[in-house]
Parts: sequence; structure tokens; C-alpha cells
Amino acid sequence: MPANIVIGTQWGDEGKGKVIDIMASRAQVVVRSQGGNNAGHTVVSNGQVYKLHLVPSGILYPDTQCLIGAGVVLDPKDFIGELDEMEQRGVSTANLKIDPRAHVVMPWHLTLDGLSEQFRGNSDIGTTKRGIGPTYMDKYERCGIRVCDLVNPAVFAEKARATGILKNKIITEVYGGQAHDLDAVIAEYTAYGERLRPYVADVSVLTYEAYKAGKTILFEGAQATLLDIDFGTYPYVTSSHPVSAGVCVGTGVGPRMIDNIIGVAKAYTTRVGKGPFPTELFDEIGDQIREKGGEYGTTTGRPRRTGWFDAVIVRHSVRVNGLDGLAINKLDTLSGLGTLKVCVGYVKPDGTTLHDFPSSLEELAECAPIYEEIQGFDEDITGCRTFEELPKACQDYILRLEELCECKVAMVGVGPDRDQMIER
Ligand code: GDP
Ligand code: IMO
Ligand code: MG
Repeated sequence: MPANIVIGTQWGDEGKGKVIDIMASRAQVVVRSQGGNNAGHTVVSNGQVYKLHLVPSGILYPDTQCLIGAGVVLDPKDFIGELDEMEQRGVSTANLKIDPRAHVVMPWHLTLDGLSEQFRGNSDIGTTKRGIGPTYMDKYERCGIRVCDLVNPAVFAEKARATGILKNKIITEVYGGQAHDLDAVIAEYTAYGERLRPYVADVSVLTYEAYKAGKTILFEGAQATLLDIDFGTYPYVTSSHPVSAGVCVGTGVGPRMIDNIIGVAKAYTTRVGKGPFPTELFDEIGDQIREKGGEYGTTTGRPRRTGWFDAVIVRHSVRVNGLDGLAINKLDTLSGLGTLKVCVGYVKPDGTTLHDFPSSLEELAECAPIYEEIQGFDEDITGCRTFEELPKACQDYILRLEELCECKVAMVGVGPDRDQMIER
């Protein structure tokens, strides 16, 4: 399959990093096309844990080209820290390239992310405070600073000063915050630009050339469908398009290039940050899932909210992404929980049922999940490597998810390591 997309189908942290790392063993190019270091993708190889934020999850393969597309927002300081960490651990970053059109997260974006969240008080979004929203705001306001500016000291100094003066006014006069020292910011970020210059290349061109040469390309989604700015639980979403179509816009390739779209889900549901979550559990089963599944944010360390698998949201993801297959991770976490529940639809107070995910939070708030009970299992399945080796109850659970989500389950994850994956 020459060009594959891997995206999240729930609220993020479905194990996209693991799926990309596995599929990257058969690919020559891995491309990130949206989001920034709000993402945290975990790859476990031979017991070694790598937590990647901006660096694509193909980085552990020395011959794989890793590309960061125009739709990504790049925090140069954090990114350089990640590059240094990789090199210290013996992972080469020589095959990494960044598109010159990608927008730069500046220090005022981080400040404004914090201040605007504080201003919202109890109605905050629960962002990762990585400056993602404010950076995309500037991109669409057409006053952003791009990687091509960052690596050109004269242009960068002029643009950073012009926008920095305005940002300082907003920080101090609207929010009563502390202004940034623009000379210091320009000096610090000019040095980051020097460091990043060798990494800059046109990712749209590189991806197209790889495609024409018949190479296998993997597009690595960050965040997930229910965090999409249009098709997620707005306003409790991120500021980019994590859906499959976002890949073409964020990389600069045409949709005809894509052959296969894989959606990643957990065998249950989690969410970090605020916003609606119909199947959320507030009891000891929710706590058990959090502890057994290690459900703490990869980027912020926040405890993740936990709940039963919601087939309404995954079915929504199957449709808006045009999924060809699902990868269901963390089935092992459900062992020993007793009877399992799956949400098959929503019911409104007047008794009407909803098959499709509603567009407004007000309508969603009225909905209660309709559960189907499915037999649980107690076996340790972390050593299973074929679908047939799984206990019958596990097989039945997966087959039922397949029916409810109207999509084939192509992979089942039974542990965090790259070899703990069953392919069907
Ligand atoms: P991503 O953001 O989608 O890449 O996912 P994260 O890395 O943020 O979170 C997924 C977590 O689940 C990580 O700690 C992974 O190591 C872990 N993980 C992935 N797949 C499995 C699995 O099948 N079983 C278990 N137990 N853990 C898994
Ligand atoms: P990966 O790629 C889970 C959530 C935040 C918050 C909302 C907006 O690891 O799956 P932002 O900082 O983007 O403005 O925050 O989006 N969020 C994620 N949740 N996984 C992620 O990425 C996320 N990236 C953003 O918690 O609710
Ligand atoms: Mg994550």
C-alpha cells in the first residue's frame, strides 16, 4: 500500500504512535501534517520508551525519511530539545525535514494560551498550554511567523518585532500580564533558526517525489477526530484538522494519492482536558481502567478521564475520515473488569434515539448512552499474537465492535510494545 493515513478516532491517545511505528517498518517516509507539540506519541521498542511530540514516529528506523508538513505548528525550542534527546539516545535525526511554510510557536503564543485559559475561568478548554490555539489564530489572521522567516535573520527580526509589539500590548493591556523582552526573544529565536536551517526542505515536493518513485508513505495523524475544529466537540477541541482530509491540506498532496486510511481506537474511551464525554465512568471501574491502562497524559501528565467504548463516536469517525480499517488498542486493559459495556446509541429525554453523533453540545448534553452488555474476560492476553489465540470472549468483543462501527478491525493491540499487535 503506497500511501496510508493513520488517524485517531476518539479524543486522542489511542496509540497512534505505536501503530505508526509498526507500519513504518514497511514504509520509507513518515509525514506529520497538523498539530504541534500538544501531541504525545509513545513508541515502545525492546522495553525502551520514546515519547515523541513533534518528531514523527518513524524516527526509530534509520533509513526512514521523517517529514513535518506545512500544516504543523512548530515550537523551535521544544523541538530542538526533542532532537537533542533523540541524538543522546543514539537515534539519528539526519533524515528529518521541516516544511518552510510551517508556522512557528512564539513565546507570546504560550503566554496567551495560559492567559486566555485563565480568563475563561471555569469555562476553560483544558488546553495543553503549548500555544497551539494562539499560533493557529495568527496563521489565519495572516500575521504568523513561518519557518522560512525563522531561518532568515533579517526577515525574522522585522516580523517578530512587528507582531511582538502587538502581542505585548494584548498581554499587558487586555490580560494584565508580563510583556516579553523582544530583543531577547529575537536573539534567542534567531539562534534556533540557525540550528534548524539544515532541516528545512519543501515537504510537499519530497512527498510527491517519494510517491512518484513508488515509495510507501505513512501520514501520521496527531490529536483525533473528536478534537477536530469542525467535526469534534467544539469548542472543546484543538485548532487544527486531525481528520484524514487534513493530511492533504497539511502536507500539500492531492487526495488521489491516498490508498488506505486506518483509524486507531482504544478498546474503551479516554479524554484529557474538558468537554463532553457521554460514556465517562466516575466509579471504581473507571479508576481501574486508568490505573491498569496507565491513563496519564503523555504531554502534560494529567490523569485521563475514562469510560466505555462509544460506538457512536467511532462510527462518526468511520464516516468523516472514510476509514478502510480500525486498529483497536489496549484490549489487554479490559481483562478482569467483569461484564463489559459498549455504547450503541444515544437516547434523548423524549425517548427518541440518535444513531449519529450530534453537532451541538446542548443536544449532546441531553443524551444518555444506550449500553449493550458484553461478556468480559479474565485471561492475560498480552502474549497472544493471532486473533485465534485470543479467548472467545475477546474475539466476540472485537467482532461486535466491528459490526457496530461498520468498519473492519484490521489490528488489535494487546500491549504497548511494537510486537504486541495482532494483525488480521
Ligand atoms: P497516541 O497519542 O495516540 O500516540 O497515544 P499515547 O502514546 O499518548 O497513549 C497511548 C498509551 O497506550 C501509551 O502509553 C502506549 O504505550 C500505550 N499502548 C498503546 N497500545 C497499547 C496496547 O495495546 N496495550 C497497552 N497496555 N498499552 C498500549
Ligand atoms: P495526541 O496526538 C489528547 C486536547 C487537550 C484539550 C484540547 C485543546 O497525543 O493524541 P490544545 O493544546 O490542542 O489547544 O488543547 O485538545 N489535546 C489532546 N488530547 N491527545 C492529544 O494528542 C491532544 N492534543 C490536544 O487536552 O482538551
Ligand atoms: Mg498522545
